[in-house]
Amino acid sequence: MTARTSLGVLVSGSGTNLQAILDATRTSALPADVRVVISNVAEARALDRARAASVPAVALPHRDYPDRRSFDRAVVAALRDHGVEWVVLAGFMRLVTSELLGAFPGRVVNIHPALLPAFPGVNAQRQAVEYGVKLTGCTVHLVDEGTDTGPILAQRAIAVEDGDDEDSLRARLLTVEHALLVEVLAAIAEGRLERRPPGPLGRERLHLRPR
Ligand code: GRF
Repeated sequence: MTARTSLGVLVSGSGTNLQAILDATRTSALPADVRVVISNVAEARALDRARAASVPAVALPHRDYPDRRSFDRAVVAALRDHGVEWVVLAGFMRLVTSELLGAFPGRVVNIHPALLPAFPGVNAQRQAVEYGVKLTGCTVHLVDEGTDTGPILAQRAIAVEDGDDEDSLRARLLTVEHALLVEVLAAIAEGRLERRPPGPLGRERLHLRPR
């Protein structure tokens, strides 16, 4: 029997992606454990979800720190205290610095509600509706120092329907996000992530082997 992977999840809001991870760790779908949930928003619903699952819930209000790097140092200390191996940004609305990325090199994962490189940054669903794309989706990727620019782990597409607005698209996408994020974390936990040498664009290309 192989060891389970230790996850730390960073959140800022409602935490439905966190809930999907927590639920999956209680089944054979995801051989991993959430060791700690950290939020920059003390009243985030996601922290209640962690507490309800008996997972340590840590509030680190970013305004308590003079800059991003010192905030990230506090996050890294909390992650290390709980023996975290992989970090998941699940609706974490802060840019991260090399303090975090250097502490967990190539082991920070983000979920973004668009098909990157389209619509990076905030309000991706609104950007998709306003642009008029007919397909959008979600992306799970490794985090680098850019905004939603890191190597892509997996993507899933959905159609944008005629009557969609930002809210309907967000709701429909979330269900897809939950499934995709759990599938990617399972691949990581089961050692099915392959890193391929950069191609002509100089980008690291990642591949998830099927079970
Ligand atoms: C998701 O749409 C995620 O892709 C984005 O923020 C949202 C978080 O939702 N980064 P939740 O907190 O997991 O419900």
